Amino acid sequence: MESNNQELHEVSRLYRQHISPDLARLMKFGGPGSLEVSARDCRVTDHLGRVYLDFAGGYGVFSLGHAHPEVVAAVTEQLQKLPLSSRVLLNPQQAYLARDLAQLAPGTLQYSFFCNSGAEAVEGALKLARLATGRRRLLACHNSYHGKTLGALSVTGREKYRQPFEPLIPEVGFVEFGDLDGLRAAVDDQLAAFIVEPVLGEGGIHVAPAGYLSEAQRLCREHGVLLIADEVQCGLGRTGKMFAVEHWGVEPDLIVLAKALGGGVVPAGAILGTPAVWQAMKGRPLLHTSTFGGNPLACVAGRKTLEILQRDGLPARAAESGQWLLTELEQLRQDFPQLIAQVRGLGLMIGVECTGEQHAGALISELLKHQLLAVYTLNQPKVIRLEPPLTIARSDLKLAVDAFRASLSALLVVR
Ligand SMILES: Cc1ncc(COP(=O)(O)O)c(C=O)c1O
Repeated sequence: MESNNQELHEVSRLYRQHISPDLARLMKFGGPGSLEVSARDCRVTDHLGRVYLDFAGGYGVFSLGHAHPEVVAAVTEQLQKLPLSSRVLLNPQQAYLARDLAQLAPGTLQYSFFCNSGAEAVEGALKLARLATGRRRLLACHNSYHGKTLGALSVTGREKYRQPFEPLIPEVGFVEFGDLDGLRAAVDDQLAAFIVEPVLGEGGIHVAPAGYLSEAQRLCREHGVLLIADEVQCGLGRTGKMFAVEHWGVEPDLIVLAKALGGGVVPAGAILGTPAVWQAMKGRPLLHTSTFGGNPLACVAGRKTLEILQRDGLPARAAESGQWLLTELEQLRQDFPQLIAQVRGLGLMIGVECTGEQHAGALISELLKHQLLAVYTLNQPKVIRLEPPLTIARSDLKLAVDAFRASLSALLVVR
């Protein structure tokens, strides 16, 4: 125990000295601090052997839970054979993953470009949209989150992250998410693309209102504008469908994926596009490239992930578990109206909006004491996001609800 705590102090010191003093402080929010040591399924174990139920879910990374044995086995096998690509010979794993994604994707999304993260996928999609349309202007939503590289940040609707780095890429406009009148006014023949998350993730878990995305698609088609669905967080079964846009029968021109694509084992990202979009790269296949994107480890992880999602019916399971959890949380909202303002979500992408930021912070700390990991959404700190693995058992969902009830009761006492 003593030596374990010595390591905690040493790691905290190294964070302060070599990573970021402020980050070290932020990450201690839960009390004495913990070192993550191992994880399996929906549980993370710390340096003192304390086991946490993980409802933060890596912001959507751990849809299959931590270290899914089949993904680990597939990656381990590939690791022994060919971990990284020569980049000179054709790579079978990349081809198979592209085929598997094409078979699952809505509409005519037939092509894939592989990268390593969500922001990278967004970067590539924005470039492709400009290339395919010959237009420059881009449209995004206020309160959206598309990543923090310069291009992705340029379409991210959060002033706090944008302002210190301005000027960002020019000719980007913003509309309110869900506001069709605003969209109608902003979409015209000069626009290259409208990028939108079907469910705002970091914006506080807001589900696109009925009719919004289908009308967005219609408007975009009318004006020759590309529709980019950012499914980095909400894609691959999380919302109860393999692709979130399927809830509304929408067929975007481009879909960006990351997080869950690597099965919670390897970082992976992808841009899916239609033949019409890909046509823009005809004769110049090296216009957009990535050294590590589509590496064999990521691709076998991706393939195994898609296989498990389908075989185990995980999108449907997420829909059912999400509905159950939402009902339980709604009961908690009714029981604790002083602390919870609203609960909402789709599938296992759920937001618990507290009545104030301070309540959300206090609730997250209290949940940690009850060994439940949860985090707030980046753009909306008063919303706690719940994104447990899609594989989660009902008994674990019940444990989480109990932890919430106990934590909310404890907070009422100290108020
Ligand atoms: C919807 C969405 N798009 C893009 C990103 C950026 O992904 P990454 O952090 O892998 O760059 C995120 C990350 O949270 C996201 O939620």
